[in-house]
Amino acid sequence: MKNSTQLLLEEYHLGDLKLKNRVVMAPMTRGRATNADLVPTSLMAEYYAQRASAGLILSEGTWVNSRAIGFINVPGIYTEKQVEGWKQVTTAVHDNGGLIFSQLGHIGSASHPDHLNGELPAGPSAINPQTQSFTPEGFKDTLTPRELTVAEIKQTIQDYKQAAQNAKDAGFDGVEVHAQAGMLIPQFLSLATNQRTDEYGGSIENRARIIFEILDAITEVWNSTRVAIKFTPVMYTHVGIVTPDEETIPIFQYILKKLNDYDLAFVHITGPAQDLTGTPVEALQNDYFSHFRYHYSGRLMANLGFTQQSGDTILKEGKADLVSFGQLFIANPDLVERFKFQLPLSENDPDTYYTGEEKGYADYPGAVYVGAGAQSDEVDSE
Ligand SMILES: Cc1cc2nc3c(=O)[nH]c(=O)nc-3n(C[C@H](O)[C@H](O)[C@H](O)COP(=O)(O)O)c2cc1C
Repeated sequence: MKNSTQLLLEEYHLGDLKLKNRVVMAPMTRGRATNADLVPTSLMAEYYAQRASAGLILSEGTWVNSRAIGFINVPGIYTEKQVEGWKQVTTAVHDNGGLIFSQLGHIGSASHPDHLNGELPAGPSAINPQTQSFTPEGFKDTLTPRELTVAEIKQTIQDYKQAAQNAKDAGFDGVEVHAQAGMLIPQFLSLATNQRTDEYGGSIENRARIIFEILDAITEVWNSTRVAIKFTPVMYTHVGIVTPDEETIPIFQYILKKLNDYDLAFVHITGPAQDLTGTPVEALQNDYFSHFRYHYSGRLMANLGFTQQSGDTILKEGKADLVSFGQLFIANPDLVERFKFQLPLSENDPDTYYTGEEKGYADYPGAVYVGAGAQSDEVDSE
């Protein structure tokens, strides 16, 4: 197969944006905003610029307000200083020909008082999510949080809207709502962590309400085709009790059906990292992404463990429109070129995922080209 026939490496029109290829860099928290104000740094700008050959970069999850924090050295997007810091990042990516969305997140009850000036975290209900929070003193068990009042939920939605406006002011090309398991939104979806009896709890419609209120608020700031959302419907690790339940499948069917009316940039779905046999989401085990394709008619981005080959295959099968790659981008800043010219992939150092400043972050070299033309010919002659 010729590389030139790879859909993965072909240009893609995402609304009014032209992506150079369909290789998207997945959002990855890297813990390099090592300053008290959680401001993005020039090192972060360098790191993202190195990866600008991706068709689109999704930034690491970034906090929408000071109550959203739950992990050390993760940047925010709720102060002027932070917006200024992000400007360096977006400028560096754009100067290198790339596009970047900001991932907007809130960790809800999975935070810890150490991040919140000693105050208790708040979530949908006063139920300990039973996970851990990375604090300045290391990983600590989560506690029983406080239940958010309706007024606080409404304020949080406004904070998402303001963060989306801040992302625009900082020069981002769009935003992705961070609804990965473990974050505030899935805490509302989960039967284990949401036992509210008001309009945000109980029925599927009520538990999913916050998603649509956030999207409605954000799309007042951004055209919907610049707004995306990322879900991990079948996640089991590092999420405590926010794991799939018997209503996960029906709630996602409801969400996807309703999202059909939004004309979003894309819905980003992470696949299963383990065998789902015997779990409440066993029915998704086979042909996972087709289930989402069936219920969602808009653009779909597939994620989890993709390689160049499996990424290209899922596009050719028509089961996704875009593919995101996380860990492969850590040690391979020029992942697209490596795919294009079939250059070897470098190994990541997991010890530096969330710490280490430049080490294991912006110091991974690009692959050495022994004459790109020759390599390209070699690939084409397969
Ligand atoms: C170091 C690291 C940090 C991550 N941080 C985030 C994050 O901030 N937001 C998010 O939605 N996903 C996050 N993820 C998950 C990735 O976006 C992606 O879903 C996951 O790595 C699976 O894709 P992969 O198999 O291509 O790596 C993170 C993953 C890694 C490895």
